[in-house]
Amino acid sequence: MEGEGYHLWAGTAASQEWDAAYTKAEAAVANLTLKEKVVLTTGKGYFTSTCTGNIGSIDSINFPGICLQDSALGVRNTQGNSAFPAGINAAATFNRTLMYQRGAAMGAEFRGKGINVQLGPYMNLMRLPASGRAWEGFGADPYLTGEGAYQSVLGIQSQGVQAVAKHFLNNEQERSRAFSSSNVDDRTVSAKSSLNSRRQGWLTSVQATRTVPPPRASNPPFIETASLNLHRPVVPPQHPGERGSGDIKAMNDTYACENNATLHGYLKGELGFRGYVMSDWYATHSTADAANHGLDVTMPGDVIPGGGISWFGDSLVLAVDLGSVNESVVDEMATRVLAGWYLLGQDQGFPETNIGSSGPDVQGDHASLIRTIDAAATVLLKNDKGMLPLKSPRSIAIIGDGAGSNPSGPNACADRSCDKGVLGMGWGSGTANYPYLIAPVDAITNRSKETNTTVVSSLSDSDLKAAAKAAAGASVALVFITADSGELGYIVEGTDGDRNNLNAWHNGDDLVNAVASVNNNTIVVVNTVGPILVEAWIDHPNVTGLVWSGLPGQEAGNALVDVLWGDYNPRQVYGRLPYTIAKNQSDYPAQVDFDISLSTIQISYNEGLFIDYRHFDAANIAPRYEFGFGLSYTTFDYSGLSVNGSLTSGSNYDATVVGASLDAALHETAASVTFTLTNNGTVAGHEIPQLYISMPSSSNEPPYLLKGFDSIFLSPGESTQVTLSLSRYDLSFWNAETQKWEVPQGSFGITASTYAGVFRMSSTLATVFNLTIKTLQAIPDPVSSAVIGLVTEIWNAVQQDTVLDEPKQAPSPPPVPARV
Ligand code: BGC
Repeated sequence: MEGEGYHLWAGTAASQEWDAAYTKAEAAVANLTLKEKVVLTTGKGYFTSTCTGNIGSIDSINFPGICLQDSALGVRNTQGNSAFPAGINAAATFNRTLMYQRGAAMGAEFRGKGINVQLGPYMNLMRLPASGRAWEGFGADPYLTGEGAYQSVLGIQSQGVQAVAKHFLNNEQERSRAFSSSNVDDRTVSAKSSLNSRRQGWLTSVQATRTVPPPRASNPPFIETASLNLHRPVVPPQHPGERGSGDIKAMNDTYACENNATLHGYLKGELGFRGYVMSDWYATHSTADAANHGLDVTMPGDVIPGGGISWFGDSLVLAVDLGSVNESVVDEMATRVLAGWYLLGQDQGFPETNIGSSGPDVQGDHASLIRTIDAAATVLLKNDKGMLPLKSPRSIAIIGDGAGSNPSGPNACADRSCDKGVLGMGWGSGTANYPYLIAPVDAITNRSKETNTTVVSSLSDSDLKAAAKAAAGASVALVFITADSGELGYIVEGTDGDRNNLNAWHNGDDLVNAVASVNNNTIVVVNTVGPILVEAWIDHPNVTGLVWSGLPGQEAGNALVDVLWGDYNPRQVYGRLPYTIAKNQSDYPAQVDFDISLSTIQISYNEGLFIDYRHFDAANIAPRYEFGFGLSYTTFDYSGLSVNGSLTSGSNYDATVVGASLDAALHETAASVTFTLTNNGTVAGHEIPQLYISMPSSSNEPPYLLKGFDSIFLSPGESTQVTLSLSRYDLSFWNAETQKWEVPQGSFGITASTYAGVFRMSSTLATVFNLTIKTLQAIPDPVSSAVIGLVTEIWNAVQQDTVLDEPKQAPSPPPVPARV
């Protein structure tokens, strides 16, 4: 078993450490003048910051200031750093330990450079397959994203560096990101929010987006909900009479950085978030509204770059003087900032900031961790004729620009805004400089020397004749194709952030077909930001392999070699898809909104809870490769599935309690799912069992929801018992009418399998057995021989409405500073 334990909130170590940090912060703030307090809330300004953002110093309390630096995959804009695999590759490992270790290694590098705050992890969902920045995060499923973000935060903060979970909330396309309104119904916000669990208890900071949450009146999203409101009328009791609380008008057309309902009601109220909320760069739009409604820090500080004027700074001082902001509000803002700083022990022995050319080399031995994560993130999607792992092929042809190097160097294009040579990350602020970038052609050529394998290559994407010539007669042809995207602001080959389509770049389909037409052992290697369509060649009989390498960072070529030859130790840990690969782009439930308008673009989240596989399951659309799918070189048997636990339907959730969604009663184990896992193949290997639940139909949830996974190593013939637990929260849905987490009446289906697509595409689950555990026969896997899973359909919760939990003591709220 692997992974970090979870942390309940009230009374826990996390909570006590926050209490201690607040005590120090409140004592310090008590000695500050208004101007000094405002310093803590205001970035120093774009051109005056040495880091991506800076908060100024305050001598009277020995506060040296705070340096905040991108990105979510390594220290940006410096040297002597590592270029880690992108978040999407960390997600593909489905391995909490590796997610954590990646976070810890990044945190060590930020600390080494004296950076207080890492502007990561990225936690917006891949709601749209072509979304420009989704590769910075952890894919299309909120559970997986929550685990990825949580482990990253723990890892980063284990080094005494503050993590920033970004971006809060519903910021899932680049186009029009500063001029759009994300119109999302209340229930969807709850269900898709990867913040929405006790796992964010340690978080010090979140970055709010620029987007405008819904103009509610003009866009009633879901008639099934009584409240047509994204913003929950949750008013923490500590904030009585607060402007906007429950007042619908105040919630309409509100910028993310001044949205009382999402910042106070949801984040600081229901989720009990005790850190500080900062704006994304230039996302603040007001002084009093922002401060009064929950924004704590404006970044980078000025209203326009170099303009010298801030929404906070002197404007905030004036607002207090004029009475539009109460000084106690500024006290809370300043307290939150200092509390984050104390929480991570940054008041003692934190290194001086040095990200300049004389700064330290902080790479340590991270290259080997990066290589390990890369191999574990590589998803084997097709392996016909058992060609992989490679044995001692007589000759290998390497085809495609994506196998080579950018002739001008890996960092030649600003913020990686080009697709030349092997693709190790997308572009924009979510990047770091490569210390080096191992091209597949070099790594494969080196490895081939060990087996006297001849290597020929053609690294042009457009010269199809040269490609075919190199491939003809080779024992195996490896074709490299790519798809790139990134942050708005760069236009790369006609793509200005979000992808225009899901095709491989540079006519990659033609390249694959040109090679497959002459070589009957063509293996396609894909480096990509997200799904691409593979229909143009995937069924070609000569395409025997498909290796999904994602965005691996600096060790790209080395890790690929480890996987291709099976050199990787411990062997056979391969990735799983963190998103669905469809047969057609239109099969996905939502697309990037490319509208152009002089008024605010209305982005409607009409798909609600049904994103990615949840939609494919509900609409019965067969994908090409399912979310969670990935092959391995061995096979596993699942047996003896049992579910133990008891649960009553209904809810006594009290939304008016600060931190109600972190209540231990919601998050303690309610049921344990146990089964025996056996490696019945001939080689050692890791299995990644995945646990999906099917809620009673009355809850109107998608047919299958990921609620657990693990990563388990077994030698041939070895068996082990696996237990995955489910909490009451895991088994609840957000009832927007009652504004409660609620366990629905009825029977739940529980599926544990090597990948859920096997079962999700089956109709067998239609039968429901109350209080019965039923083991179904293995369903043959159409793609790999590694199938087998068990479906059990259980188990009851079928109490009557009247049999609710006994009323319980309301949990004591964490001591959030009171606001008058
Ligand atoms: C991005 C953030 C980033 C910030 C600072 C913004 O444009 O959206 O993710 O942290 O810039 O570079």
